[in-house]
Order: sequence, then C-alpha cells, then structure tokens
Amino acid sequence: MTGAQAAAVMAARKPGFAPRVGLVLGSGLGGLVEAFEDGTPIPYGELPGFPAPTVAGHGGTLWLGHLAGVPVACLQGRAHAYEGKGAGVMNGAVRGLEQAGCEILILTNAAGSLVPETGPGSLMLITDHINFTGLNPLAGEAGDGFVGMTEAYDPALRAQIRAAAEALGLTLAEGVYVWFTGPSFETPAEIRAARALGADLVGMSTVPEVIVARQCGLRVAALSMITNLAAGMGDRPITHAQTLEVAARAAEDMQQLLVGVLGGLAGEA
Ligand code: HPA
Repeated sequence: MTGAQAAAVMAARKPGFAPRVGLVLGSGLGGLVEAFEDGTPIPYGELPGFPAPTVAGHGGTLWLGHLAGVPVACLQGRAHAYEGKGAGVMNGAVRGLEQAGCEILILTNAAGSLVPETGPGSLMLITDHINFTGLNPLAGEAGDGFVGMTEAYDPALRAQIRAAAEALGLTLAEGVYVWFTGPSFETPAEIRAARALGADLVGMSTVPEVIVARQCGLRVAALSMITNLAAGMGDRPITHAQTLEVAARAAEDMQQLLVGVLGGLAGEA
C-alpha cells in the first residue's frame, strides 16, 4: 500500500487542494476540526489503506482544509496496535498523507507522565521514544525498512513548537515517550523499569506512526496531553474514563498550541 490511491481520493474530493501538514488528533482533540475555515470531511471508509472503524459508530474522518492559513490534512481518530490489526495499522494513512503532498506530520496523543512534577493537564513535547513493545510497523513489509531514527522528532520543528508555546504563555514540558501496546495499562513495576530506562511519558500510540512517517521522509513532531501520573505514581487507579475526562480539559491548551504552531509554519511557506 503506497498511499497513492488514498491521495487520489483526496484530490478528487477537494480539487486543487494540496495539504502541507498532516495532523493526527488524539483522544479529546476532535473539536479542533471546528476551527477549519473550509473543512471537507472524508470518512476513512472511502480512503484505501486508512484504518477501518472498529467500534460501532466511531469511524474516523479525514478533514482537508486550512487551519491558521495552512493547508492541513487532519486525521480525526486513529487506530492502535492493540485493536488487532497489527502495528502497521496506520501505515496506509501516513503514506496517504505523504502522497497527498504533506511534508510535516504533527501527532498528538493522551499519555501518562513518569515525572511527578508534570501532572494531569500538562502538555509535553516528545523529544525521542523507546519502543518497549517488540513490534514494528515496517516488519514483514516490502521496501526498505532500515529507517534511521536519529532525530526522528525534528529538532527545528521542536524549537518552533517551544517558541509557539512561549508566545502563548503555555507551559510545555518535554521528554522521552515509551510505547507500550496496551490495551491494559502498565503495571507499577513496568513503569519503574521504564523510568530507569529514561522514559518521561507513556502511551499506546504514536511511535508506529513516527516510524512509518520517517520512512516516508516526513518531518515529525509529537505532542502529548498528560492525563494521569503513570501506574503506581498517583493516588488513584488509572482508568480510561479519567484519560478522556482530563484530555477534554487539556484539549483547549493543545488546540491553542497547534493553531499557534501552524500560524508560525504559515509564515515560512
Ligand atoms: N499509560 C498508557 N497510555 C496512556 C496512559 C497511561 O498511563 N494515560 C493515557 N494514555
């Protein structure tokens, strides 16, 4: 799956539109699509290679349009390796964005924090990752899988994101993301191990998308909304309901930051 077919559908549905930035919206961030000046929705079901919905009524939608003056292709809804379709479940979508013309991919997610000072509601910029799953989205695929992962999280983009946060007066922590498959949350022992290995935040997404995006040559940035302290660090058990509730509260800051970042990118096109 090269992504060419999905890119052809995008071109047919919004003629003359060439997205420059791909955006993957994590839990709680769907509201950002309301900020589109000219949003065109395309259900994933119409896009070859995009993940099929797994939960009834919760299909994903790709939005094409301008945000802060930048042509953006925005994925509202992502699939995870734990849903059963493998670590490469997002490969077709990421390649579709690249084939449609995106040069930059900005990924967002909800994550747990391994840093006590960076609690629920905080925003974190991912600087690097640790793949703790033993899975790889490129395993078993045709093509060159020997993708370099040094500076996978683009240093220049990271500097732009830090500057946008500062201009908005938003506190932005940063750190190393460790990918666990889920869907169960981690054990406290796993979190202690991850912390000893150098992780600062933990989640069940993003890393496979970064790997395939780097294979495509996209410049990548990733931002997390911290919804909880990781297992064994907080005073209450971690639940999915809490993740969604805190993500909804942090979403406003994240959306403000994303619009600020895109505004900065608009100026340099
Ligand atoms: N672990 C894994 N994924 C998560 C967490 C967590 O603590 N919080 C939000 N997503």
